[in-house]
Amino acid sequence: MLVQDPVLHQEWLAACLSSDIQDKPVQITLMGERIVIFRTESGVHAFKDLCIHRGAALSLGCVRDGKLVCPYHAWEYDASGTCVRIPQLPANQAIPTKAKAITYGCQERYGFVWVNLSGKEPEMFALPEFDDPSFRNVLWGPQEVNAKPPRVVENFLDVGHLAVVHEGYLGVETHMEIGDYHVHKTPEGCLRSDEIAIYQPDPDGTGQAKHVYYTYEVLRPLSVKFTKRDNENNNLMSILLTVLPVTETKSIAYGVMSFNYDTDLTDEDMVKFQDMIFAQDKPVVENQKPEDLPLDLQVELSLKSDRMSIAYRQYLTALGVTHGTA
Ligand code: FES
Ligand SMILES: [Fe+2]
Repeated sequence: MLVQDPVLHQEWLAACLSSDIQDKPVQITLMGERIVIFRTESGVHAFKDLCIHRGAALSLGCVRDGKLVCPYHAWEYDASGTCVRIPQLPANQAIPTKAKAITYGCQERYGFVWVNLSGKEPEMFALPEFDDPSFRNVLWGPQEVNAKPPRVVENFLDVGHLAVVHEGYLGVETHMEIGDYHVHKTPEGCLRSDEIAIYQPDPDGTGQAKHVYYTYEVLRPLSVKFTKRDNENNNLMSILLTVLPVTETKSIAYGVMSFNYDTDLTDEDMVKFQDMIFAQDKPVVENQKPEDLPLDLQVELSLKSDRMSIAYRQYLTALGVTHGTA
């Protein structure tokens, strides 16, 4: 079933890792829509995974000389979605002008392939760490979650749960209080919190306890970030989380972890640590009721320390996001 949300239809959604798209077309389900992503010399492209001739899935075909070839009767589509060859047509007959694939916006950025279902190419949000040589960037995901994206995103922005759900790693029982902080709107229309102090026994998988300062940021409705700063040496670790709506009830989380210091851990170790942390969140998020994030702030009981979540809910309200909200 299609996920209807005119706002999210305008968004860049992380469809897969860049490395997932090699020489074969790949089928991805994105907001309930089957799409095919393929790579040619000019880059990556996304079409509706449907051949106009007899409805075959183009993702079962192949890429040949820069064209996507349908698996059924070998019609060939160029990167713009125009059918440029129909092998069954006698040579003197023109290809019908209606022989076209439905195309979507598609680009590679931050290690992922992003798709825009509206077919437009709006500006991508900035992730300065990714292009900064002083940062090491590690890709994380896919992680499937049986929950709607706003609940997954809000969990990531939730500072109060760290010492409970991630006790022994991202917080401790003896330091559960959250100091006062505010959330600000940036000139670009993003949200940014003040720094929030947290004591963490194992903030990054290295096992070294630190007093860290969290800054949370909402970049887009389904792309958010936090940065933790170590006061002693100004070490920075940030994680970008972006959530793909797959179907009405299923999401896939992807991330970029960025470090401006040496952790002495391999990429695999860092991914494993993040997987372990995410596995602690998953049962909580998958069982929250209602599944839709209540945008009416009277529906759940918020504390001052939930200011980031409240700001996120107001942000979704202002944008008019309907998928996964109530
Ligand atoms: S269904 Fe694609 S070429 Fe016939
Ligand atoms: Fe968590």
